[in-house]
Amino acid sequence: MARIALVTGGSRGIGAAISKKLKSQGFEVAATYAGNDEAAAKFTEETGIKTYKWNVASYEESAEGIAKVEADLGPIDTVVANAGITRDAPFHKMTPEQWHQVVDTNLTGVFNTVHPIWPGMRERKFGRVIVISSINGQKGQFAQVNYAATKAGDLGIVKSLAQEGARAGITANAICPGYIATDMVMAVPEKVRESIIAQIPTGRLGEPEEIANCVAFLASDEAAFLNGSTISANGGQFFV
Ligand code: CAA
Repeated sequence: MARIALVTGGSRGIGAAISKKLKSQGFEVAATYAGNDEAAAKFTEETGIKTYKWNVASYEESAEGIAKVEADLGPIDTVVANAGITRDAPFHKMTPEQWHQVVDTNLTGVFNTVHPIWPGMRERKFGRVIVISSINGQKGQFAQVNYAATKAGDLGIVKSLAQEGARAGITANAICPGYIATDMVMAVPEKVRESIIAQIPTGRLGEPEEIANCVAFLASDEAAFLNGSTISANGGQFFV
């Protein structure tokens, strides 16, 4: 029987590449999105992957949405917490609203996504939790006090879940993408983007598929002994 995977923010950017890759590996995939109905409908039409709309920042919406996915497809055994946003500003200009928006989505959103799925994984004695963190959670980033804090926090979630889930056959791992060619990075001013690319030894932005390949490995049976780890896929920009 096909494994069931949930990918949050799974209809655009890195998430879309992850959804497609997992489908190609034989998973039954549900992709969530927050707002862009048109992009989601187009994605479903092109890929045949079901999309579900909810805000990961809301626990109630997440729990309700997850229950619907499980009613439609079956128990989720692979969850990819990928949904994330930026609200970049130098710290002296960052507003409490910008702080809370990013924390609610990128950090609390991971709790909201994994928590309703976790009891079922424990009961069935199998699970794969994969969280998409960021290079900027490892190294910090100018104008990203909010984002870097959440992405570092995501690594804390993964390392703790790894210890709690191990005996129940659940692994939890993180991927820290570097700068990947998505809308999020394209929104950075061109001059800044050029200076970022100059810091990447590989000399280019990463491709969403290069992150999706890491997810496919972590989701596979072959990765059973990887638990609590962080895969840094950043073209050599930063070593931990
Ligand atoms: N390092 C040092 N100084 C920097 C800097 C940097 N990385 N980026 C900007 N600055 C400087 C500017 O040169 C400017 O200096 P001056 O005042 O001397 O001219 C100052 O900081 C910025 O001041 P501004 O008033 O112009 O700032 P602003 O309010 O207009 O904000 C910004 C501009 C939001 C910082 C914009 O430059 C920006 O978006 N920077 C990119 C931040 C970034 O890298 N975000 C990552 C997004 S991708 C992502 O997050 C995905 C992932 O996981 C990797």
